[in-house]
Amino acid sequence: MAVPVGIASVGHYVPDRVIDNHYFTTFLDTSDEWIRQRSGIRERRWLADGQTTSDMFIAAGRQALERAGVGPEEVDLIICGTVSGDYLFPATACIVQDALGCTRAAGFDLSAACPGFLFAVSTGSQFVAAGTYQNVLVIGGEALSRITDMNDRSSCVLFGDGAGAVLLQPHAVCQRGLIEDILLGTDGSRADLIIRPHGGAKHPITLETLEAGTHLLQMKGREVYRFAVEKMTELMEWAMEGQNPLELGWVVPHQVNARILETATERLAIPREKVIVNIDRLGNTSAASIPIILSELWEQDQLEPGKFLVLATFGAGLTWAGARVRW
Ligand code: ACO
Repeated sequence: MAVPVGIASVGHYVPDRVIDNHYFTTFLDTSDEWIRQRSGIRERRWLADGQTTSDMFIAAGRQALERAGVGPEEVDLIICGTVSGDYLFPATACIVQDALGCTRAAGFDLSAACPGFLFAVSTGSQFVAAGTYQNVLVIGGEALSRITDMNDRSSCVLFGDGAGAVLLQPHAVCQRGLIEDILLGTDGSRADLIIRPHGGAKHPITLETLEAGTHLLQMKGREVYRFAVEKMTELMEWAMEGQNPLELGWVVPHQVNARILETATERLAIPREKVIVNIDRLGNTSAASIPIILSELWEQDQLEPGKFLVLATFGAGLTWAGARVRW
């Protein structure tokens, strides 16, 4: 019998360095108005020089452990969902394991782009559900400012850096955040829509690729947009099916584009005030966007026992994930 799994606590970290839209107008043909109207983004946070992905993960992970009252030596497993870790290898989870002092924990990274956090939650849940582990620390986050092409105005303005973490435990132990259902999906036939074409084993970095910038993130924004509206709508509908709408706490969508979120939630007639949007402050933080929102809700004491949360996300791969969590 599977052990029901709960989210015992959440934590997050975003860098102090604020990048507003005007910053881009100093070197690109763009404007604050275009960025705000097309994406809903006003500003985002980027790592300072000398800071890195693991710094954010360590801070978010430490906060989640403190909020759960669990010591680092009690952690059994650390899974980091990221596509912009400190190194190609070793895994950022190894750096986090050492820095947090999780001496008993195993750790690995998982690559599923923006849905990386929910893919990692799903993976970590299996260990708790099977009774193998009691404390699994899941961290999702990105330093996309480090892998974005700053000459590409259609993508570099969208992304922010950040990290969010949750501690998974048997629900009987933590008594909150019951993970009722998770759905994962992939369509690899559209892998080229969001990709870092060069720098992997297929096309190692050369002087030519460096000059062309093809080791950086590339995105076919318009095609992704169409897919995003359909998939986000579908995932939210799936998570809400058969549920009492009066028990809906919050819809926590991946912060991809304010217009995409508006269209998806309007189609499902979800009240606007139930949908959390922080893209205006933080941009698209990829794998961090959902856990950052959960952590902000935690801080504001807005996670109401008995209410359910709808989580929905999609990204490079293409990959997508949805979840329903009963707080
Ligand atoms: N400033 C000014 N003009 C711009 C900018 C900019 N920053 N970027 C693009 N434009 C121009 C384009 O060149 C184009 O000009 P043209 O008509 O002369 O060719 C025009 O604006 C319209 O471009 P579109 O791409 O049609 O603009 P759109 O309204 O679709 O908005 C955006 C672009 C914001 C990228 C949108 O398509 C989007 O949000 N897509 C989804 C992004 C996404 O979901 N990413 C996935 C997750 S990322 C991950 O997984 C890591």
